[in-house]
Amino acid sequence: MTAPPEVRILDSLEDLFQAGADEFVRLAKDAVRDRGKFAVALSGGSTPRGLYQRLASLPPASLPWDKIAFFLGDERHVPIDSPESNYRMAFEALLSKVPVPRENIFRVRSEEQDADAAAQAYEQTLKTFFNLKPGEFPRFDLILLGTGPDGHTASLFPGSKGLQEKDRLVIANWVEKFQTDRITFTLPVLNHARNVIFLASGHEKAPVLRQVLEGEGATLPSQLVRPPDGRLLWLVDRAAASALTPSHS
Ligand code: 6PG
Repeated sequence: MTAPPEVRILDSLEDLFQAGADEFVRLAKDAVRDRGKFAVALSGGSTPRGLYQRLASLPPASLPWDKIAFFLGDERHVPIDSPESNYRMAFEALLSKVPVPRENIFRVRSEEQDADAAAQAYEQTLKTFFNLKPGEFPRFDLILLGTGPDGHTASLFPGSKGLQEKDRLVIANWVEKFQTDRITFTLPVLNHARNVIFLASGHEKAPVLRQVLEGEGATLPSQLVRPPDGRLLWLVDRAAASALTPSHS
């Protein structure tokens, strides 16, 4: 039986970033102690930027940077110098500011004209890094996610074909509302993680958070992320949590 999500409500956005950084450091040290490395998939969007900046501001010795492997859970189909690029945001906020070896950073080749080819190449990167046999899924130590007001997560949008994918690790997923492909981890990859941490902040996320955490059934993509052998933690600020019932508050 999958454990219910753990929900931690922080008084401010700064407290949320600090809580995220504390979790990241603890999980990284545990993973390196137990398995010699920490494989983490970063989220895109804007909320995580503050967390990445907080991690970049830590004393360098706070983390075993040379044993951390960075991936992206999803990427827009744009060049890496585009303001839309998740890699660009993570590079500017964190990866360019910490002593992580360049060979430990695995980005999507989102500049490829063919989004499917970019997805297949990234899928091969995962298979190689995790030394996967056919049919196996990677077990990330941590996957960071956000949720959109429509309940999407990574680039798995409500009604998109990618939600049905059960075999592939990474796909190009057509997003009707944006009229573009995005490259994204599939639900099986998200649900094989040891730890998934969602970050959500702001009043605009209050309705979706109530639906995701307290709504009946599981129809929204963010509700479908429930790792059966992993820990699911929602780090939210008071504004995003403002529509939750007192049991969560
Ligand atoms: C992306 C993200 C996406 C994001 C949500 C929430 O590529 O944009 O992967 O899933 O996490 O849209 O974004 P905010 O945290 O910026 O609201």
